[in-house]
Amino acid sequence: MVEVRYLGHSAVLLSDGKTRILIDPFLTGNPMAAAGVGEVEAELILVTHAHGDHFGDSVALSKKGGMVVSTFEIATYAEKHGAKSIPMNLGGTYRFEGGWLKWVPAWHSSSFPDGTYGGMPMGVVVELGGRRLYHAGDTALFSDMRLIGELGLDLAFLPIGDHFTMDPEDALKALELLRPKRVVPIHYNTFPPIRQDGEAFAQRARKKGVEGHALKPGEVLRLD
Ligand code: NI
Ligand code: MN
Repeated sequence: MVEVRYLGHSAVLLSDGKTRILIDPFLTGNPMAAAGVGEVEAELILVTHAHGDHFGDSVALSKKGGMVVSTFEIATYAEKHGAKSIPMNLGGTYRFEGGWLKWVPAWHSSSFPDGTYGGMPMGVVVELGGRRLYHAGDTALFSDMRLIGELGLDLAFLPIGDHFTMDPEDALKALELLRPKRVVPIHYNTFPPIRQDGEAFAQRARKKGVEGHALKPGEVLRLD
């Protein structure tokens, strides 16, 4: 069993009842955030890239006890600001009790708001509670998503906002390559340039045989 809680924008919290994994914890300053830093805790805090709407509250959350897991560059930056981290990079797998996570490519950029280089942007595949989930981070459509799909995905979190990432059209094409059982659209409606209809995307995904779930911030999806 794995429980997925959508926190708004690209932030998601995964839990199998023992290990909590928080991905791209942008809560402070996020108009769609379903929780504040004081209300969320996780053992592992995964950061796909350095942009403020993904790195977000990683340091503050790590100070509450979690490890920041990301590129060497982002982990080093987080450590400098008082976080505990696990520096990794593309292709690497980190194993923990009850699962593993593996960093995969994303086509985007990655620098901190202060200009510091964040290394390569990434997506991540997480195995937790016997389920396999892919969080694409911020990315354009790319054909190597087919390789990620070969891992056998129970769920994919895909950006649909357009402007900075794929649009719904490209995200639907991505479903053909990834072939996940379910898809949850992310990275939309937070700011005016990325306004999209999540429910319409979910319905179009269903027509392709993929269960679409346009989760509202705060909503929980349980995979038994
Ligand atoms: Ni970004
Ligand atoms: Mn972003």
